[in-house]
Amino acid sequence: MNDLFPKIMLSRNDGVIDLAWGHPSDNLHPLDELKPAVDAIFTNQEISALQYSGYQGYGPLIESLSQYLSEEKSYTKTINPEELYIGYGASHGLDLACTLFTGEGNTVLVEEPSYYLVRQILIDHRLNIVGVPTDSEGMQIENLEQIIQSFKGDVKLLYLIPSFHNPMGSVMSHERREKIIELAKEYHFLIAADEAYHLLYYGDPPPPTMATLDNSSTGCVVSLGSFSKILAPGIKLGWVQSKPNLVDKFTNSGSNFSGGNNNFAGAIVDIAIRKGILSKHINRLKSTYKSRMEIMSMALKTHIPDAEFLMPQGGYYFWIKLPEEIDAMVLERLALNEGVTLRPGVAFSGQSLFSNYIRLCFALSDIEDISEGIYRLGQAYCKYVKG
Ligand SMILES: Cc1ncc(COP(=O)(O)O)c(C=O)c1O
Repeated sequence: MNDLFPKIMLSRNDGVIDLAWGHPSDNLHPLDELKPAVDAIFTNQEISALQYSGYQGYGPLIESLSQYLSEEKSYTKTINPEELYIGYGASHGLDLACTLFTGEGNTVLVEEPSYYLVRQILIDHRLNIVGVPTDSEGMQIENLEQIIQSFKGDVKLLYLIPSFHNPMGSVMSHERREKIIELAKEYHFLIAADEAYHLLYYGDPPPPTMATLDNSSTGCVVSLGSFSKILAPGIKLGWVQSKPNLVDKFTNSGSNFSGGNNNFAGAIVDIAIRKGILSKHINRLKSTYKSRMEIMSMALKTHIPDAEFLMPQGGYYFWIKLPEEIDAMVLERLALNEGVTLRPGVAFSGQSLFSNYIRLCFALSDIEDISEGIYRLGQAYCKYVKG
């Protein structure tokens, strides 16, 4: 076997500590925990798991997920099965939303900075991507209406990450979420709220998902949920939460008609929910990530006192501001020489902004590696500053 056709996306060099990729760590994958769920499919001869799925997704999962979300603190209301569509994850949900609700050349508003791998989805749909300034709560709304008006009805989509933003770690307040929904109602665009990290909170829950707050009659929000960060990305399954009439559009989309979606993964996740495997795993992830986050914060304060950051309250990331004169791309090279990786801030910008910012992920590496990684980053930073 060679590296030409790798098994996984992540590639790591021996001895290098990875603080760049936003992936869960190998030793947290629920291999033992999921075994009974997979076994149950074969023991119970659950042949539906190997058949094409129902159009809306694997029926039992739609039911168990609706119950799970309805009981979850951060959702605050009953989520009915009619409000859920099962797909291949948050990225797939966004891709389908673009297919269904936008046309070539339409304008999509995104936060500046935003999750960099989503940009290609928007480019694939030939959308005009417009960055909106952000603050510690995510997308700013002071000038949002003016920006929308300036495109004269051409804004069809607004993509944002309301909870535990990638890369900023920020959480948008309840009030701001509601104001953006009001704008969507008035100017007739769809909000695609990427809620991939919504359930990964380490203190108080974030405000409800945007779809939960959607008070319009026909729906102006699709909230994109994912099992990638709360179970395993290899399962590559997620859900769209929205008003039933919008869920119908996903259910009746062309690619979905020709094959439904991943029933085998759906059956595994359904059993994982019903047997309490998912909630136990989320609790384990939360306590592990919380301690990794605290270690990273302490190490940053010790080894890079110049680093400015807000303590995240969930998710995977620290978004760190360094002095203006620091070029994070140069720091990235120096850091690699010391044996640690980071993601330069400019990668998250459509306008080449944030050149003195870096994103660090505390999910992938364990406590020892995080401490050592930040120490190495500190060494690289000192070398940079001293010339
Ligand atoms: C904000 C955000 N959205 C979506 C994804 C990918 O989610 P999924 O695997 O469900 O497509 C990621 C993964 O890093 C992410 O950070």
